[in-house]
Amino acid sequence: MYLEVYEDHEWADLVAEMWTSFMQRRPDARICLPTGETPRPLYASSAPNLDLSSTTVFLLDEFDLPRGSAARCDSMFEQDLLRLLVRPPKAQHRLRVEASDADAECSRFDAIIGKGGLDLTILGLGGNGHIGLNEPGTSMDSPTRMVDLSPATTRAAKRYDADANALRGMTLGMHRIIESDEVWLLVTGSHKTAVLERMLSGPIGPELPASYLRDHPNATVFADRSAAPNL
Ligand code: F6R
Repeated sequence: MYLEVYEDHEWADLVAEMWTSFMQRRPDARICLPTGETPRPLYASSAPNLDLSSTTVFLLDEFDLPRGSAARCDSMFEQDLLRLLVRPPKAQHRLRVEASDADAECSRFDAIIGKGGLDLTILGLGGNGHIGLNEPGTSMDSPTRMVDLSPATTRAAKRYDADANALRGMTLGMHRIIESDEVWLLVTGSHKTAVLERMLSGPIGPELPASYLRDHPNATVFADRSAAPNL
């Protein structure tokens, strides 16, 4: 696994340059994207130059919250990236958390990914070490599925909308993340320092699902200085 640490003030612009250049090289890529606080500055910086008109985009996960909730991943994605794009994605796929048959919905989404794989998966790092909504306890081969959220993740979702009470969510399975050709893990802010250090130097295993990325052949952590003051 590679680690890039950038000064806080240039983190978003430097990662945006890398992403823009990835998309220029691979305009028809199949990419999976996260939402939340971490990617916001990256999306804002990338949007004016990003051409996704040949790109297929998958949304990494979704909270089981009423449609329109500001904490839902589809709402944040619309707000933080889609509405800013001059050249929006050719196709978009998301986990429809409101589907009556959750297992069938997860299988549907997973099958679309299975057909062509993922060229690039961009992730944020949960305060408890989750990636997507693959919470502590997740095995490396876990499928795309509906999960119960840890109390820490339920609390964290209130940062997006104080009224949100997210107890469950659908997530891309860990196995699809691991199978992705390339993975970028975004980590910013001093509140992520401890979990980043555990992820990089603690044991690899289900207690901290992001640690599985250490065995990925082409994974890079893009951290800002606040998150990685000693690295
Ligand atoms: C969001 C997602 C989550 C977040 C993580 C960090 O799609 O998959 O794993 O990336 O919870 O959230 P922020 O960036 O808000 O600190």
